[in-house]
Amino acid sequence: MLAVYPGSFDPVTCGHLDVIQRGARIFDRLIIAVLRNEQKNPLFSVEERVEMVRASIGGIDNVEVDSFDGLLVQYAKQKGAKALIRGIRAISDYEFELQMALMNRRLAPEIETVFLMAGEAYSFISSRLVKEVIRLGGDIQGLVPAPVETRLRRMLS
Ligand code: PNS
Repeated sequence: MLAVYPGSFDPVTCGHLDVIQRGARIFDRLIIAVLRNEQKNPLFSVEERVEMVRASIGGIDNVEVDSFDGLLVQYAKQKGAKALIRGIRAISDYEFELQMALMNRRLAPEIETVFLMAGEAYSFISSRLVKEVIRLGGDIQGLVPAPVETRLRRMLS
């Protein structure tokens, strides 16, 4: 069974990576779908975000990385996916995730949203905070995969 794991991945974090590894163990194939939408004003271009995910997942052979635009369920249907994966960190994520899952279900009842909990060691990590910490000179080692850390440091130097 094919699942799609969508997100902005601006940039991919160790929490995302943990969800990817868990998803890849459950589903036969997993497509990580990076949202192209420039309205969210991402720090990295979609090409950079895709490349960072690719560089970070090395070695998981049932995982592909792609980008998408427009409606997520449309993209998932076009790929033949039966499930969407989303990671949940804390109860604060739940409200928005529930809203999205129910909207996606209304749009495409045949596609199920599956929530995965990242390991507790990653529960406080978000792309937004990682960007803020590095911008202010803090240490982000262990919060993002090594290729992302290198790129973030290069961006600041
Ligand atoms: O990593 P993010 O920013 O939390 O991911 C949000 C994402 C990409 C899953 C969401 O914004 C999305 O699905 N966008 C595509 C447009 C769409 O389908 N909107 C309706 C969803 S209810």
